[in-house]
Amino acid sequence: MMVQQALIANSVHKSFSAPAEESSLAVLENISVIVEQGEIVALVGPSGCGKSTLLNIAAGFEKPDTGEVLFMGNTITGPSPERAVVFQSASLFPWLTVKENIAFGLKTAKVKPKIIEEKCSRFIELVGLAGFENYYPYQLSGGMQQRVALARVLVLEPKMLLMDEPFAALDAQTRLAMQQVLMSISMALKPTILFITHDVEEALILADKVYVMSKLPGTIIRELEVPFARPRPISIIGDPQFSKLKSEILAQLF
Ligand SMILES: Nc1ncnc2c1ncn2[C@@H]1O[C@H](COP(=O)(O)OP(=O)(O)O)[C@@H](O)[C@H]1O
Ligand SMILES: [Mg+2]
Repeated sequence: MMVQQALIANSVHKSFSAPAEESSLAVLENISVIVEQGEIVALVGPSGCGKSTLLNIAAGFEKPDTGEVLFMGNTITGPSPERAVVFQSASLFPWLTVKENIAFGLKTAKVKPKIIEEKCSRFIELVGLAGFENYYPYQLSGGMQQRVALARVLVLEPKMLLMDEPFAALDAQTRLAMQQVLMSISMALKPTILFITHDVEEALILADKVYVMSKLPGTIIRELEVPFARPRPISIIGDPQFSKLKSEILAQLF
């Protein structure tokens, strides 16, 4: 079977002009990244190294100065619902319930009510929110809000998810729980994901492949296939090979 490449970044360079200065700030240098279909790829790097900039390019919000970024073989020219973006803050509609938030995109797309109903139930179940359908966002914890944000995007069946530190604002235990939610989603749906994080442990728990970025200007300093089968339980953190990889990568980040 031939594996199709979903996202390809080829020798991407990007700099920004510094505010009120003549000079410019080199942010991304010679970044090459491949995300295959059905693969979860994590990009891990220190804060400010250009991770979000790369994600914004993949999302079509920004353009590279040089190099190319392709999605399913075509140059990315702007944002597309095929490449759904999940951010750190859930930004739900506060006046809509869990179910209404999740149904919103399907309603806008004029999907039949019966199908909306079926899809909503399925994805509410998948993210572990059964029983909370009629809650409003203010009645949910941060982790639950992020579950709604995930379901709201997944229900539209995008070809790829671009996730920019989606769990970074959550407390440590909720973050582990959300990683397990994403793990079960990966078992059920085999989604294609580019996952940005500063958290080495998170990258190793979630990803099939990890790219490690240097400090600014961001370059790829390491690429590794993660050698653990799915599903990966939380206890993987205690595996000696896991600890070894984690400390190796941490050492490279400093
Ligand atoms: N639109 C922009 N204009 C100017 N500078 C920017 C812009 N976006 C990001 N930067 C700069 O690029 C650098 C990397 O930012 P970012 O990609 O957000 O890093 P990360 O997500 O890894 O923390 C930072 O120094 C930031 O100030
Ligand atoms: Mg960022």
